[in-house]
Amino acid sequence: MCGIVGYIGSNQAAPVLLDGLSKLEYRGYDSAGIAVRDGGSATEIIKEKGKLRVLAEMTDNGKAVKGTCGIGHTRWATHGEPSAVNAHPHSSDDGNVIAVHNGIIENFQEQREKLIKKGYSFKSQTDTEVAVKLIDYYYKKYSQLPVEAIARAMVRIRGSYALCVMFKDYPDQIFCARKDSPMIIGIQNGESYVASDVPAILKYTRNVYYIGNMEIAKLERGNVTFYNIDSEEIEKPLTEIKWDAESAEKGGYEHFMLKEIFEQPKVIRDTINSVVNNGTVHFSEVQLTDEEMQDINQVYIVACGSAYHVGVAVQYVIEELTSLQVRVELASEFRYRKMTLNPKSLVIVISQSGETADTLAALREAKDQGIKTLGIVNVVGSSIAREADNVFYTLAGPEISVATTKAYSCQLVAGYLLALQFAKARNEIDDEKYQALLEDINTIPEKVDRILEDRERVQWYASKLINVSDSFFIGRGIDYAIGMEGSLKLKEISYIHSEAYAAGELKHGPISLIEEGTIVIAVVTQDALTEKTISNMVEVKSRGAKLMAVTTTGKYFLEDTAEFTCYVPKINPLFAGSLAVIPLQLLSYYVSIGKGFDVDKPRNLAKSVTVE
Ligand code: F6R
Repeated sequence: MCGIVGYIGSNQAAPVLLDGLSKLEYRGYDSAGIAVRDGGSATEIIKEKGKLRVLAEMTDNGKAVKGTCGIGHTRWATHGEPSAVNAHPHSSDDGNVIAVHNGIIENFQEQREKLIKKGYSFKSQTDTEVAVKLIDYYYKKYSQLPVEAIARAMVRIRGSYALCVMFKDYPDQIFCARKDSPMIIGIQNGESYVASDVPAILKYTRNVYYIGNMEIAKLERGNVTFYNIDSEEIEKPLTEIKWDAESAEKGGYEHFMLKEIFEQPKVIRDTINSVVNNGTVHFSEVQLTDEEMQDINQVYIVACGSAYHVGVAVQYVIEELTSLQVRVELASEFRYRKMTLNPKSLVIVISQSGETADTLAALREAKDQGIKTLGIVNVVGSSIAREADNVFYTLAGPEISVATTKAYSCQLVAGYLLALQFAKARNEIDDEKYQALLEDINTIPEKVDRILEDRERVQWYASKLINVSDSFFIGRGIDYAIGMEGSLKLKEISYIHSEAYAAGELKHGPISLIEEGTIVIAVVTQDALTEKTISNMVEVKSRGAKLMAVTTTGKYFLEDTAEFTCYVPKINPLFAGSLAVIPLQLLSYYVSIGKGFDVDKPRNLAKSVTVE
C-alpha cells in the first residue's frame, strides 16, 4: 500500500519520479507528491489530493520542477483522510528532514506525544510526519549522521514501513530503510533508483538490490551503501530482474486487467513449464523432496483474498488425489488463532505480491512453531519468497491491475502441480493416472485461449448487468471455490453487492434474499455434483432469479434453466476451475467498464496490502 520512488542521477528527477509513480498507482491513488532538489538548493515539495494525473498537470509532467535528486509517493490513506496536507512527502518544520513512507507506524500516537513535549508540532494526521520528526530529533540530538538518526528512530517505531528520506545537509544523497514493507534499489550508469516495486524502475534498470528488514541504504549517483541497524556497513548481492519492460506496460490494451486476462494462456504455460520437464514434475527449484512429501501428513493453506480462494480450490484437489489432511485458513485469522500445528505438517502460503502483511505474519507464526513452510509467490525476492523454507514461483510477470487475474490462474496451476506431486511421491496414484492428469493440466493454456475467443458473448451479457444491485454466485465443491473468486471479482471492480454460497447452503438462509430479477450465477463443472446444483438453480429460478451458468461443453444442457450459459471446454473436473473462472473475470471486467469505473484502480483498494 502506497508507492514510493526515489531517484538521484544526472537527469531531471521529477519526470522519472512521476513515470515511476505511474507504475505504482495500483498501490494507492488518493493523493500524490514529490520532493525535488538540485545540489544545495532548497527542496521543492509539490503534493495534492487525487490521482497522479493531478500532480502531473500541476508540474507540467514534472518539467516545471528542477533538480536531479528527489523522492515521490502515491498514497493509500491509513492515518488521516486523503488531502494535500496528509499527502507525502512530509517535512520537518525547518526542512531538515523530508520523507515519504509506505506502511503503518503502530505506536505513532505515543511517539507524537513525546515529540510534542520536546517542542515539535504537527500539521498532518499522518504517522509519517511522526517518523520524519523523530528522525529530525535524533539527527539534531546526536551525531548529525543520517544513518545513525534513522537507525535510532527505527528501534523506537513499531509497525511496518519503507522510508525514503532526504536530509538538507546531504544534498547528494537519499537514505532508505525498511521493515516488512517492500522496497528495491536499482543502479545503472551513474544513476540510482529506489522503488516499492520493480515496474517503477524496470524502464531504467534491471540491476537491483533487495534491502533487508531493519536495514538502511544510502543512495548516491550510481552507488549504494548498505548498513545494518548498528550503522555498520554490510554487503548485498546485485540481482538481475528477468521481467521484460513491456510486461509492465498496457501493450495496446485499454486496461491492464484486460491485458492480464489475455496473458493467461502464456503465463499459465510458463508456470507449468517451470516445473514440468519430459512429462514429469520436477521440484528441484522448489527444493521439496519426495521424502519430505512422504513425511508430511497435514497441509495448511494460508492466504488472503483471491489467493485464499485458490487455497479453497486446491484443497479439493489435494484431498481427491492424496490422503493428506488439508485445512485452508484466512491469514488474518490464522495468525491470531491459538493453534498448535501438527509438527508433521506443511504450511503453504499463497501470495502474488509476497508482501501481504497477514500472510507474512502467518508464515512467521508457522516458522516460530518449527513447521516447514512453502510459499507460492509471484514477486521474486519479496519478503515471503525470502522467508519461506521453499518457494514455488508463479511466472505471471508483473500484475498491475488491482484485481488479480493472471496471478490467480498461475497460483491455481501451481496448486494442481503440487497436489499431483504429493500424490506421486506418496504412491497414492499410479503412473497412468499421473500422466493423464499431467496431460490435462497441460491443456489448460490452450483451453483458456479458446474461452477468451468467445469474449464477445460475455461482453453482451455483461451489458445487461450494469444496473443490477445484488448478485449471488453458487456452486458445489471446486465450483463453490470458483464462485467465491467470481463474486469477489464482480464486487471489487463493479461495486455490485455480491455473495458466494455453497449451493447447498442456500436453503439455510440466503434463499430468502432471492426476489424477482435477482442475479444468480451458477458454476456447474463438477460431474458428481451437477444434478444437485441444477436443483438449486431451479429453486432460485422459481423464486424469480435470473440465472447465468458457467458449465462444461457437451456435458450438461442448461439453456432451459439459465438465461445465459457460458460453456468452457472439457477437462478433468479437478482442473475445471481454471477454465470456469475465465468467463467470470471477463464478466466483471465488462460490467465495470460498462459502468464507467476505473477498472484497474477500484476505489478504496490497493494492490499490495502491507498493513493489517
Ligand atoms: C483480489 C485481489 C486480492 C489479493 C489479496 C492477496 O482481486 O487481488 O484479494 O488476492 O489481497 O494478495 P497477495 O496475493 O499479494 O497476497
